[in-house]
Amino acid sequence: MVVHNNFNNNQTSYSNLQSLKNGKQKTILHSCLNQVWIIPSLFTLLIAIACVYTLIFPNIHKILQIYNFTVTSEILEASPAVESTDCDVFDGRWVEDDSRYPIYNSTDCPFAERGFSCFENGRKDKEYLRWQWKPKKCNIPRFDVEKALEMLRGKRVVFVGDSLSRTQWESWVCMLMEGVKNKESVYEINGSKITKTIRHLGVRFKDHNITVDFYRSVFLMNKSYDVPAGAPKNVRMTVRLDLVDDISDQWIDSDLLVFNTGGWWTENRLFNEMRCFFQIGNSLEFGISVIDGYKMALNTWADWAEANINPNRTTLFFRTIESTHWRGPNQCDVSEKPLNETKGKEKSEKSDIIMETVEKKMKRVAVRIMHLTPMGSYRSDAHVGNWGDNPSVQDCGHWCLPGFPDIWNEIIISHFLPKIPSFSS
Ligand SMILES: *[C@@H]1O[C@H](CO)[C@@H](O)[C@H](O)[C@H]1NC(C)=O
Ligand SMILES: *[C@@H]1O[C@H](CO)[C@@H](O)[C@H](O)[C@H]1NC(C)=O
Ligand SMILES: *[C@@H]1O[C@H](CO)[C@@H](O)[C@H](O)[C@H]1NC(C)=O
Ligand SMILES: *[C@@H]1O[C@H](CO)[C@@H](O)[C@H](O)[C@H]1NC(C)=O
Ligand SMILES: *[C@@H]1O[C@H](CO)[C@@H](O)[C@H](O)[C@H]1NC(C)=O
Ligand SMILES: *[C@@H]1O[C@H](CO)[C@@H](O)[C@H](O)[C@H]1NC(C)=O
Ligand SMILES: *[C@@H]1O[C@H](CO)[C@@H](O)[C@H](O)[C@H]1NC(C)=O
Repeated sequence: MVVHNNFNNNQTSYSNLQSLKNGKQKTILHSCLNQVWIIPSLFTLLIAIACVYTLIFPNIHKILQIYNFTVTSEILEASPAVESTDCDVFDGRWVEDDSRYPIYNSTDCPFAERGFSCFENGRKDKEYLRWQWKPKKCNIPRFDVEKALEMLRGKRVVFVGDSLSRTQWESWVCMLMEGVKNKESVYEINGSKITKTIRHLGVRFKDHNITVDFYRSVFLMNKSYDVPAGAPKNVRMTVRLDLVDDISDQWIDSDLLVFNTGGWWTENRLFNEMRCFFQIGNSLEFGISVIDGYKMALNTWADWAEANINPNRTTLFFRTIESTHWRGPNQCDVSEKPLNETKGKEKSEKSDIIMETVEKKMKRVAVRIMHLTPMGSYRSDAHVGNWGDNPSVQDCGHWCLPGFPDIWNEIIISHFLPKIPSFSS
């Protein structure tokens, strides 16, 4: 079961406009009541207003759409024609907006790792921080840290996946810390430092009783160096396609649970670099392609979620594949502006598999898909590039912080959570 979000925020501006209009008409009507001749002309006037209204607004929307990157969000927000009760928040485009971002300063946030802190690592242009995601049929309310901290009070938020989940976890913590006066009251439970391979990190917001965990599980499946007896010498480890990661029991007891997996599912990474092969039960499976392995793993994950997640307690998200913008092996050019065409990058076979699997398998437990592939496909400007840990290594897979991942979290916090009773009440 996929949850299609029924959008009904931001209708206030539209209804305000309506009642304002009605108010004006009433006043005119009142002062003219004793002049009978005025009534037919009043009707004509009303019809004319209605015609102009319906004719102009859809067309304005069309005209605006032609200027993909030049429209400002203010114009769109003022136009009631773009509001809708049925909004796919991931179907939209990027518009310039200087007023929203950045939400935090990574230099001041102890949980933004150095490797993602582009400004700290010398990135000078700030253009990549200006863009706001504008869904076609609605607006994403601006991140409000006070509201966010209250919605999350007493909650446990868990991110599971690869380094892109770690980025999202860091962004989440930094965003919330903006609303905390005593920064010392926010700490990693064991005092652990962020590293690329750490299995578990957990940040406590003491004053708000919020926990935000990250679990590294790049395949979501059990990965083990205990290879079956008699395995060929080049098999260094295996990833089970029929068994979820053995730390998965630690994910269940959560209020908000966000998953991803994808970047590690390549032949080169698995079979060549890691010498990691697929395993089902006790048997090694050399005949299964990476994409079929991915399918099986997602099915296994879906069965696990159906069996273990309490839908009354836990809100579940799954992120689709992040676009990368490599020019060649280990080479990339970070642009100053988002791309104006995505050249097919808005599609991903693995993203399709995620959506199909969730649609097909989830019955008892709802999974909200965060379909980031299309929106990320434009953002060749938002990658780490040369401004990571090591200036001689280019990175067009990860994203700068602050930056694009803050918008994933803004979508969860400002768009989704207010509609979920356990967070909004
Ligand atoms: C605007 O974006 C759409 C896709 O969203 C694309 O088809 C169209 O060519 C773009 N127009 C311009 C002027 O860039
Ligand atoms: C972040 O804050 C530091 C001081 O703590 C300051 O030097 C730096 O310029 C700020 N970064 C940005 C992007 O404003
Ligand atoms: C913190 O939140 C948990 C989970 O909601 C709750 O059980 C616990 O009592 C809270 N602790 C405090 C000190 O409020
Ligand atoms: C803290 O350390 C304990 C014991 O090693 C471990 O079980 C737990 O997962 C750690 N928690 C975090 C949040 O790192
Ligand atoms: C799962 O992986 C862990 C290592 O991460 C390993 O110790 C354990 O034996 C594996 N479980 C099974 C059932 O293979
Ligand atoms: C969830 O809530 C519904 C309705 O309140 C209830 O019928 C159902 O048993 C609950 N499910 C679980 C797993 O607690
Ligand atoms: C798209 O971008 C390219 C290069 O940045 C530019 O030459 C081209 O005119 C742009 N196309 C549109 C329709 O804006």
